[in-house]
Amino acid sequence: MPYVLGVDVGTTRTAAAVCRLGGAGRAEPELVGLGGPGGGVATSLQLTADGAFAVGEPGDPRWTATGFARRVGDEVPVALGSELYPAEELTALLVRWVADRVADGEGEAASRIVLAHPAGWGPHAKNLVHRALRSVGLPDVTLLAEPLAAAACFGRGPVGVFSLGSHAFGAAVVRPPFDLVSWAEGVDQAAGADFDDLVFQHVRGTLGRAFTELDPDDPRTRGLHARLRRDCEAAKRVLSGTFETAIPVHLPSGAVEVPLTRARFEELVRPDVEHAVAVFERVVRGTPLEVTALVGGSARIPLISSLLPGRVVFEAAPETAVAKGAALAGRHLLLGPDDPEPIETSVLVRDDDPLLRFPVGEFSPASDEEFSAPPPRPPIDITPLDLPERRSVKRAVRGLAATGRSRDRDRAEDGR
Ligand SMILES: Nc1ncnc2c1ncn2[C@@H]1O[C@H](COP(=O)(O)OP(=O)(O)OP(=O)(O)O)[C@@H](O)[C@H]1O
Ligand SMILES: [Mg+2]
Repeated sequence: MPYVLGVDVGTTRTAAAVCRLGGAGRAEPELVGLGGPGGGVATSLQLTADGAFAVGEPGDPRWTATGFARRVGDEVPVALGSELYPAEELTALLVRWVADRVADGEGEAASRIVLAHPAGWGPHAKNLVHRALRSVGLPDVTLLAEPLAAAACFGRGPVGVFSLGSHAFGAAVVRPPFDLVSWAEGVDQAAGADFDDLVFQHVRGTLGRAFTELDPDDPRTRGLHARLRRDCEAAKRVLSGTFETAIPVHLPSGAVEVPLTRARFEELVRPDVEHAVAVFERVVRGTPLEVTALVGGSARIPLISSLLPGRVVFEAAPETAVAKGAALAGRHLLLGPDDPEPIETSVLVRDDDPLLRFPVGEFSPASDEEFSAPPPRPPIDITPLDLPERRSVKRAVRGLAATGRSRDRDRAEDGR
């Protein structure tokens, strides 16, 4: 059955959902399993020795790109060994991988793909992504601002969107279906990864010298830190569902456990959460909201909903709300609203119907050139000291040539 695919490429996690175009009545978006925990997949691309990309697999950090989706438009590309990749290319490759994987499962390609993007993306960032998507064989992806996607699943009146993921915070008012009334977002506002740091500091402070006197040059200390960070993140998640937990620390002298209660965790994160809530209140001021939708994995922290005003709703898995909303919004864009009129879904409306002009994120070929000027090169040499051996890229995702630029070639061109 034809379907729309919604994709949310987050800083740490990518999620996808489909919404069927056939059948009568209201269509519910369905999350698609991408092979990682909780249905999504880690937003990570590892350039393998055979020149392909492995998606979502932990590996040598020198060859692994993460967190690129929010770097689209950055002047500094992502370095993978000796290759340089603009963030939009990596994002497009990941979307292509998701689209292929879903198409394999569904037995057909999506009728339309809707990719959610940070509300702050302007025409430059959107055109970069459109071009990168075209270059991986996805010519007509609809770009939709994250709050618009998030709001698609909630309410008919003005919807407040409070979004907190691993690295980004966003607050918005959306008038369904596609009117972004006001918004604010920022990676400077503390989010999930910062809360992990606070838990880490708590453990450090509790253990005192037993922790601070560990030899930083000892590889075992680095291993201990990495493992502890993972355990701090896990403890934070546990505390959204329970009131106390203990964090294991594998000191060379023996393993110990540091207790952490929800009350103490809330004390740690309260200033950041209160700040985010204050930003949200500023953004929504003057608009009577029907409902506030909580989205993003960090929205599971109970303190957040307790501090937000008005009626607050969130899905059982708020980290999937944007992908699901993107799929639902895509169906809406193609077929019109499900309610109140039941719609005839057995015949797809043609794409070139003027009534279907996408109100948001539509790619306009005429404006492509206008925004395509390459950003100026950074004034610094970003070559790391310890470059791994060169890997040549044969293909990026199935049958597609990667276009990463080599540092050597860049230097040669700069020296012309
Ligand atoms: N039960 C939970 N309680 C608290 N935090 C949680 C819980 N589950 C997941 N998280 C946190 O949610 C974050 C991931 O959320 P999400 O998948 O929405 O982020 P993202 O989309 O990858 O990042 P971003 O939107 O910031 O770019 C992580 O920091 C994770 O620790
Ligand atoms: Mg996100």
